[in-house]
Amino acid sequence: GKGEHRHFMAKEIFEQPQVIGDTLNAMYNPARGSITLPDLPFDMADVPKVTIVACGTSYYAGLVGKYWIERTARVPVEIDVASEFRYRRPVLQDGGVALFISQSGETADTLAALRHCKAEGQRIVSVVNSPESSMARESDVVLQTNAGPEIGVASTKAFTTQLTVLACFAIALGRAKDTLTPAREKALAAALAEVPGRAAEVLAHDEAIRDIAQFVAEARDVLYLGRGTSYAIALEGALKLKEISYIHAEGYAAGEMKHGPIALIDESVPVIVIAPHDEDDLFEKTASNVQETVARGGQVIFFSDAKGVLRMQDTALHAIAMPEVDPFVAPILYAIPVQLLAYHTAVLKGTDVDQPRNLAKSVTVE
Ligand code: M6R
Repeated sequence: GKGEHRHFMAKEIFEQPQVIGDTLNAMYNPARGSITLPDLPFDMADVPKVTIVACGTSYYAGLVGKYWIERTARVPVEIDVASEFRYRRPVLQDGGVALFISQSGETADTLAALRHCKAEGQRIVSVVNSPESSMARESDVVLQTNAGPEIGVASTKAFTTQLTVLACFAIALGRAKDTLTPAREKALAAALAEVPGRAAEVLAHDEAIRDIAQFVAEARDVLYLGRGTSYAIALEGALKLKEISYIHAEGYAAGEMKHGPIALIDESVPVIVIAPHDEDDLFEKTASNVQETVARGGQVIFFSDAKGVLRMQDTALHAIAMPEVDPFVAPILYAIPVQLLAYHTAVLKGTDVDQPRNLAKSVTVE
């Protein structure tokens, strides 16, 4: 049942501290402070390339995975939505890993892509939530998300547990490739181990985000901006909002604003900005993109850490101060406020949150 919650989606958002912890427990060794994947039938040190294929929210998890794997393991990653993958006749590399991400393990396009890669001799790794699914059965290795059953059509806890698994995969690959120092591996593992506790802190912003939703619910169009892994969270936030509130939303890389979308900005457009501090000072670049937006009347809702919120206090209409964390794990935590914002906006709009129109939980036709 839904417990104390009005909708499965709310229940599933609030389960995230627990299920992220359950997912991590299978791969994190607290005594050694290290990450261990299940036994693989190949040597990770030899992997020349990773190809990621998925749909919808699972694809956005894959996009975060690409940034993580390339940064930590220096292995090239190609990523496609499953419906495009086979038909462009992708060039696969011998000995490559093909990684499929799916909550259901039954999505038709993703499964077809898996079978294609298997026939081409790729190593098949899947990140699935349903251990009995077709994708799980047909893979060489299954990296399980322990999200438990997800009922709401809008994916929430499946996404953050997929990110948890992908983070572990990136760390394990980095160790195998010798691109991660033992000290950095320990620091990343420790940062991951902190995520369940930090996620609970993020959920405490629920009421503040419900207030912000009153403003978003009035909008016809909403923009989501971010850079780096936050770009993927911007895309995911926009998908969540359109699925359940039926408000038109777009996610953009913040640096792309002046290449077109800034033309849309006026006082009626909420601009949701996902901007944790990061290793590359992308924060400052995002901050200046935000100033340009505000100069054109954009109404900014800012998700950052305390330092970032302080910096933008005169600029943003609303801001939420997120916990201070290692930038590596930020996307797992910043997924939560965009889920809550979509949820509360949809509730205000009176839509069928758990079963939005025209959508099915599992898309089993191409
Ligand atoms: O079961 P899968 O993860 O393969 O599903 C992929 C998409 O259909 C799914 O993520 C969809 O986009 C959700 N409705 C997003 O909330």
